[in-house]
Amino acid sequence: MLNIVIFGAPGSGKGTQSEKLIEKYHLTHISTGEILRNEIEHDTKLGQLANKYMSEGQLVPDEVVIDILDGLLADNPDSVGFIFDGFPRTLKQGEALDKMLSKRGERINVVLSLEVDDEELTDRLVKRGEISGRSDDTPETIKSRLQVYYGQTAQLKEYYANQGNLALIDGIGTVDDIFGRIENTVDKLKY
Ligand code: AP5
Ligand code: MG
Repeated sequence: MLNIVIFGAPGSGKGTQSEKLIEKYHLTHISTGEILRNEIEHDTKLGQLANKYMSEGQLVPDEVVIDILDGLLADNPDSVGFIFDGFPRTLKQGEALDKMLSKRGERINVVLSLEVDDEELTDRLVKRGEISGRSDDTPETIKSRLQVYYGQTAQLKEYYANQGNLALIDGIGTVDDIFGRIENTVDKLKY
């Protein structure tokens, strides 16, 4: 199995690069953000809960997202591998993911951390907010999403560096340039 975590700040290109990874390596995409937005769209109980946090740019509680993950792994026993996009976002989620995978005799093969500066991140998200309008792409919410990233999520890089799984990817350039850098890293993995 090939299990990849695609990591990075809001707007770093996790979703964009996930699409290319899925196409090439046939992985099952798990985006907690997309799952939660879908729940909000259908106005489910989970959606109502998640919306309280997401509309403020805050994280949904760990137990909630860890439960979602557990269910998805159980629902996809035949997958050739997963791409985790937007999960984990806290140390607690990172530890939970390691446990869930090791229970299945699996592990994370690589964490691809898309490195993009704040100015570019903000530009990308503001632009998207003007066009398609994800409801959390407003200047104020973008600011708190970035704060949450640096305060609660970025520390996972150290966690994965200690495991020897962290690959820093320059996330600036064209989508294809960046994917080229990702392929270089993934194709060298032994799994
Ligand atoms: P989530 O959906 O994960 O959003 P995010 O991390 O804020 O990031 P985005 O999806 O906005 O950016 P991305 O990195 O995917 O970049 P993209 O490819 O879209 O989470 C949303 C919320 O859900 C969180 O705030 C939280 O509340 C909740 N949540 C989710 N997971 C959670 C968890 N595990 N625990 C707790 N809460 C959780 O690209 C961005 C834009 O840039 C696009 O317009 C794209 O076209 C453009 N772009 C992409 N690549 C390039 C490039 N190379 N050059 C120029 N533009 C580019
Ligand atoms: Mg995304």
